[in-house]
Amino acid sequence: MAEKYSRATLSRNFLKTITRIKNPDEMLADAKAGGLEKSLGVWDLIILGVGAIIGSGIFAIVGIAAAGNVDGSAPGAGPALMVSMVIAAIACIFSALCYSEFATMIPVSGGAYTYTFATLGEFAAWMVGWVLMLEYAIGFIAVACAWSNYLVQFLSGFERILPAWLAHPPVWLVNDPFTASKLIAANPDISVPTLLGVPVCINLPAILIVLLITAILVKGTKDSAKMAGIMVFVKLAVIALFVVAGAFYVRPENWTPFAPNGAEGIFAGAFLIFFAYIGFDALATAAEECKNPQKDLPVGIIGSLIITTIVYVLVALILTGMQDTAAPVPADFLKAPMAYCMTLAHQNWAAGLISIGSLAGLTSVLLVLEMAATRILYAMSRDHFISKRFQKLHPKFHTPALLTWTVGLLAVVGILTLNLDVAAELCNYGTFTSFIIVCVAVLILRKTDPDRPRPFKVPFSPVIPSLGIITCGGLMVYKSMQPSGSAILFPVWLGVGAMIYLLYGFVKNRLNENKIHNEKVAIKKQELYK
Ligand code: ALA
Repeated sequence: MAEKYSRATLSRNFLKTITRIKNPDEMLADAKAGGLEKSLGVWDLIILGVGAIIGSGIFAIVGIAAAGNVDGSAPGAGPALMVSMVIAAIACIFSALCYSEFATMIPVSGGAYTYTFATLGEFAAWMVGWVLMLEYAIGFIAVACAWSNYLVQFLSGFERILPAWLAHPPVWLVNDPFTASKLIAANPDISVPTLLGVPVCINLPAILIVLLITAILVKGTKDSAKMAGIMVFVKLAVIALFVVAGAFYVRPENWTPFAPNGAEGIFAGAFLIFFAYIGFDALATAAEECKNPQKDLPVGIIGSLIITTIVYVLVALILTGMQDTAAPVPADFLKAPMAYCMTLAHQNWAAGLISIGSLAGLTSVLLVLEMAATRILYAMSRDHFISKRFQKLHPKFHTPALLTWTVGLLAVVGILTLNLDVAAELCNYGTFTSFIIVCVAVLILRKTDPDRPRPFKVPFSPVIPSLGIITCGGLMVYKSMQPSGSAILFPVWLGVGAMIYLLYGFVKNRLNENKIHNEKVAIKKQELYK
């Protein structure tokens, strides 16, 4: 009986411990002590936002969303792609409003991770931080590899000027092992070097861009924002070029039938193109580095989302007007749709410029994704989930240098080992989960802490947060029902995360609590003996 009682107490205590929340005031005090430089204004935020959002989604995935997958697993939306884009944008706006409420109420590093700690407690917070690594760290790896593909494509356009090894680099030097093995299976003449009998494939351009981005981030957030600003300008300029020049080659008959695959095509397109909106939430993770987070963050988050949606719809309009997406399309349209359409119109100079813009676009996405991954880990190390050593800031640049280099080097390992299609899908799963949790957290904190000052409030709560949960959850369920590697890997990732928490984070946090308790007792004793 006694044993039963103590077990029950133990499990009750365990549950109580892992659902213990962190008070938002404590978070604000921690952030004040942290000393990250406050250098970001509203324009820096909009630039970072657009920099994070516009990337491989609009430069590549848009082709598949419009015309469908070659294997037929995803039907295309056709000209109704613009409707898919608006659906995906609406799902994002519901979550963006919830992000804004939190970001202005608790303007500290960590985004969804921090908000979960304030509402659902320690274990849920760790799990959200772990899931966010799918979005930012795995997404970082996926976009780095997309960058590498674009570079290879760009270089191939200079085959008359460049030496052959540079214009057409060997397969083993520009691909991950999985992609390389598919290419070799299709063409057995491709040769790959071996080390102790194992084929060696390294995606060198992806590794180099990851190391370069890491070095820039270590040098400072302000510099990264400046750099992202240049990239944002370049990518918006080439998109404007595409829209203006492409408008002359639109054939209105391509817009009919408007939705060749009906609602199914529109929703499949919305699911795919959702990837193109990922990134606005990264702004919330930089809250601690904002000069005026209460005012600037909501404008930065919603503003960058609105600008992006307008740009995307314009691109969809021109793209589907230039290419008939109801009939089968060439492979080049699926890889680089905008550049392909320009070649179709015999505007090769424009196609070349668009390739440069794509590289710039992907570079700015890389900057923000890695920055977000490090800022979340920074907040997690403050909470004893990972080593406190990662808290150390660079003496000159005031950035978490050790943490940033660790993320960069782990990304290199990912590039050497990961299948990219699965990485991109896992990134989507991580994002859906974090959006849903933030919407849930807004509803909870409105109940548990109604009097806390909210400089920005989600309008029509609980309707808007609930719609956020339904739209993101619906897209996630839609994907889970289709057979894919990511649908299996996602629960595995969650299981590994739970194990790490139980074996490390939980233990470390209890040891820390004991230490604080002992310190308090020692101080009291000293006061008594005085
Ligand atoms: N939204 C980002 C992109 O499209 C992730 O590359």
